Amino acid sequence: MIKVVEWKNNSVVMIDQRILPVRETYRVYRTYRGVAQAIRDMVVRGAPAIGVACAMGIALGALKIRARDFETFKRRFDEVTDLLASTRPTAVNLFWAIERMKGVVERNKRLDVRDIQKRLVEEAKRIHAEDVETNRRIGRHGSRLLKNRSTILTHCNAGALATAGYGTALGVVRGAVERGKKIKVFADETRPFLQGARLTTWELKRDGIDVTLITDNMAGYMMKKGLIDAVVVGADRIASNGDTANKIGTYTVAVLARTHRIPFYVAAPTSTIDMNIRCGDDIPIEERDPAEVTHVCGKRIAPTGIGVMNPAFDVTPARLLSAIITEKGVVRPPFARNLKKLFKNGRR
Ligand code: MRU
Repeated sequence: MIKVVEWKNNSVVMIDQRILPVRETYRVYRTYRGVAQAIRDMVVRGAPAIGVACAMGIALGALKIRARDFETFKRRFDEVTDLLASTRPTAVNLFWAIERMKGVVERNKRLDVRDIQKRLVEEAKRIHAEDVETNRRIGRHGSRLLKNRSTILTHCNAGALATAGYGTALGVVRGAVERGKKIKVFADETRPFLQGARLTTWELKRDGIDVTLITDNMAGYMMKKGLIDAVVVGADRIASNGDTANKIGTYTVAVLARTHRIPFYVAAPTSTIDMNIRCGDDIPIEERDPAEVTHVCGKRIAPTGIGVMNPAFDVTPARLLSAIITEKGVVRPPFARNLKKLFKNGRR
């Protein structure tokens, strides 16, 4: 299994996703500030992986706090969580992880600071372990939706690299392959950060899964030719009505899929569902550095001083989704009603 984010001897080790597939380099972080910068710079990326890295960053920060009383500890702890909360705004898993870590502090405020610190490290490790298990469940539920000998299209990287392991959208592919189905994958390259070209192809090839790389603007052509049977993507935040924020370009793929009557599936853990927001309009969309658009691998491809927009995510309206695949089961429309039910009965 690829070690995406790992807790090792009171440090956080992460594979540097900015330089894959050219080099497989692991970076060691000993401070929460370092982890926050790594999330911002996309050394680690993908909603669930960001959540895990954030929890481990908080644990690192908490371990370094020298405080005798709870109030002093809590003040410094809040500085740690505030910094991590400011790194990337769209993926709700980051805020979900912060809430879990804050819950540990709240529940154990009567313990010694040393014991609270120990529990925070344990919680971060638990979030990591749970994520792999969650993805395997998503894979099991989702595998039933893919027919044998089908070809799926995916956008960005919602694979092992975007999680603690196994993946969400690619977890569905892995789940189907493990159950003996023959599945082919078309991977959109995913401009501007090229998560599809660099990461999805890399991890699928490593697992011996048949993958074909296409540029983003080829998806419609492939669908028209009848080469795509289903689309499976991940998510960064799903609103309570099912509207889904995912990597920029996902919305375009969903519109194309609807036109060609191809099922469009979103695979995501329930930690990606934000029941506090009504619809996609309430999801904050990260705007990233224009250099990601004007440059490819450090090389300028556009005139200097040109106007650039670089939203990192878009929102696909719920009406374009065939289903949302979670660890608790497959949710079908109407999403507003069925997501509420999912959280109510907690079925696995
Ligand atoms: O900017 P990124 O690379 O963090 O964006 C990642 C995505 O959009 C993924 O599709 C999403 O986080 C799901 S990952 C299981």
